[in-house]
Amino acid sequence: MATIELIELAIETSRRAYVPYSHFPIGAVLVSKDGDIYTGVNIENASYPLTNCGERTAIFKAISEGERDFDELIVYGETEKPISPCGACRQVMAEFFEKDFKVTLVAKDKSTVEMTVGELLPYSFTDLK
Ligand code: THU
Repeated sequence: MATIELIELAIETSRRAYVPYSHFPIGAVLVSKDGDIYTGVNIENASYPLTNCGERTAIFKAISEGERDFDELIVYGETEKPISPCGACRQVMAEFFEKDFKVTLVAKDKSTVEMTVGELLPYSFTDLK
């Protein structure tokens, strides 16, 4: 799928976000090496810290379906500049994706920034050795 279609899908996905507290919807699209697509939204809770970000929802959905090999991740937020993933999501990305894995960050006006996982979280803690 072309990137513009994936961006549109991330925007459509964000409409399913459960955000009664922040009113800040996020849509994530995770593409596997086989071309399977896992979408994710942020899911908030009255107990705020229990919120799950859109990126982690997509990753956890894919991992729990048995998927392990991924191609790219697209993240959309209603921001002026392309959305900046939180630290927890960067750590989860570092767990499942290679350092050169491509993440496309998308703003409200559909402008994008492409970053690798290594750029998003340099010198990351990725194993116990
Ligand atoms: N959020 C995400 O889902 N992903 C990001 O990249 C940044 C922040 C969510 C968490 C919360 O539901 C809302 O945005 C405001 O922080």
